[in-house]
Amino acid sequence: MKVLVVGGAGYIGSHVALALSRRGWEPVILDDLSKGHRQAVLAGKLIVGNMGDVPLVQELLTEERIEVVVHLSAYSLVGESVTDPGKYFRNNIANSLRLLDAMLACGVKKMVFSSTAAVYGEPETIPLTEEHPCRPLNPYGFSKLTYEGILDAYAKAYGLNYIALRYFNAAGADPEAAIGEDHRPESHLIPITLQVALGLRPSLQLFGTDYPTADGTCIRDYIHVTDLARAHLLAIEALARGCAPAVYNLGNGQGYSNRQVIEVARRVTGQEIPVEEGPRRPGDPAVLVASSAKIQRELGWRPEYPDLETIIATAWRWHKSHPHGYESNVRE
Ligand SMILES: NC(=O)c1ccc[n+]([C@@H]2O[C@H](COP(=O)([O-])OP(=O)(O)OC[C@H]3O[C@@H](n4cnc5c(N)ncnc54)[C@H](O)[C@@H]3O)[C@@H](O)[C@H]2O)c1
Repeated sequence: MKVLVVGGAGYIGSHVALALSRRGWEPVILDDLSKGHRQAVLAGKLIVGNMGDVPLVQELLTEERIEVVVHLSAYSLVGESVTDPGKYFRNNIANSLRLLDAMLACGVKKMVFSSTAAVYGEPETIPLTEEHPCRPLNPYGFSKLTYEGILDAYAKAYGLNYIALRYFNAAGADPEAAIGEDHRPESHLIPITLQVALGLRPSLQLFGTDYPTADGTCIRDYIHVTDLARAHLLAIEALARGCAPAVYNLGNGQGYSNRQVIEVARRVTGQEIPVEEGPRRPGDPAVLVASSAKIQRELGWRPEYPDLETIIATAWRWHKSHPHGYESNVRE
């Protein structure tokens, strides 16, 4: 099966492309390298281009005989989406819509879409199920929820079939391959903690120690990126079987506080990891934990690396061998 992985030079996309090729399928990667890295592409051909370039996408879909599109390409910095929402709407909605229209024009009607826990907003109940109301707190979450709505309308009107995966916190790195997390700027807790362990940052900023949780810090649900990647294979198989359009949460179902993450990182790295405590950030819910019961029940997904120690150990292996991330981020 030939699969177009849009955003396949990014953190999660590079792991998805690898999983596809290990499964014996053929990934073709489309990425504009605005955030991704050429060296992250270990499997499949890389086409450097924008998903909003309709003629390019149509040519690719036709010439490569693509059957399914995995759409991971988006901007995803929550804070930046608040200060520059237009940038997020132009890429995550407008360019993404062009991608979808190009697909339909070529008769490609299957998509796996990277959505996010940010569609929910402030949780009313934990763990979050897919039925929980969606009230995103920022333009990033709104852009993803809007696109889910577009997919739903296109499914009803044009026969599109899709699976939207609402990821919680992706973390870790492939245990065997030389790929890992390298966002610029980095905003995720685990890579920042490991950069402190490597001496690349003097200390870790802890945002908020007065949340109504056992140790006062936020609780999040960390899912290993390889487990996340495997869910895409199951979603593609379900689409190939002609399943109904669906939305699934993807998390471990287990929450860890920021302090627990730091403690495990200290154990794994053997480093002290100094912490600077500061005030809460606006818009950070106290607890975000997924129920992944639906994808377990309907697609048979199970996490292979559910424990935080393993997740951080695989991330540490990548960060130690690539302290400054990928070597270059050359745009073409
Ligand atoms: N990392 C997480 O924990 C997390 C959590 C929830 C949802 N997500 C979603 O998962 C997806 C992947 O996240 P990631 O962490 O791998 O991010 P990433 O930034 O590493 O990857 C996104 C890739 O998309 C590419 N891209 C962006 N706009 C493009 C365009 N117009 N045309 C072509 N390529 C384009 C970037 O160059 C980058 O390689 C995103 O949609 C993100 O919103 C991520």
